[in-house]
Amino acid sequence: MWNDGLKIGVPLIDSEHKELCSRIDQLLDACNKGQGRAEIVKTVAFLEEYTIKHFSDEERLQRSSGYPKCAEHKEMHEYFKAKVADLKKSLDENGANIANISDTNFFLMNWLINHIQKVDKELATYIK
Ligand SMILES: [Fe+2]
Repeated sequence: MWNDGLKIGVPLIDSEHKELCSRIDQLLDACNKGQGRAEIVKTVAFLEEYTIKHFSDEERLQRSSGYPKCAEHKEMHEYFKAKVADLKKSLDENGANIANISDTNFFLMNWLINHIQKVDKELATYIK
């Protein structure tokens, strides 16, 4: 999923985005090998942890640079966290199935690529 076109030019954030992309790749790979059920539980647990660190790094950068769209940007991060919590709930209640695995794949790829390309790049432009 990662390509240099996704770079925003802030090394810490770029390396965290790269890590997120590689975890999503790992999930897609596992799905292609028929191992999606086992991998999705790991991916969601990883995201729950890692996004706390990643979003707080981004939010700290916004506060320290006086970025005017802090609140708006934070809301999008909260939306992502809530969505990951929903996915985890669905996995806990129903187990991994085709529906929640494909929902997860679709959501993660779309949200992340969109968010990096539009919202995080706008932040990076402001910082520079
Ligand atoms: Fe962000």
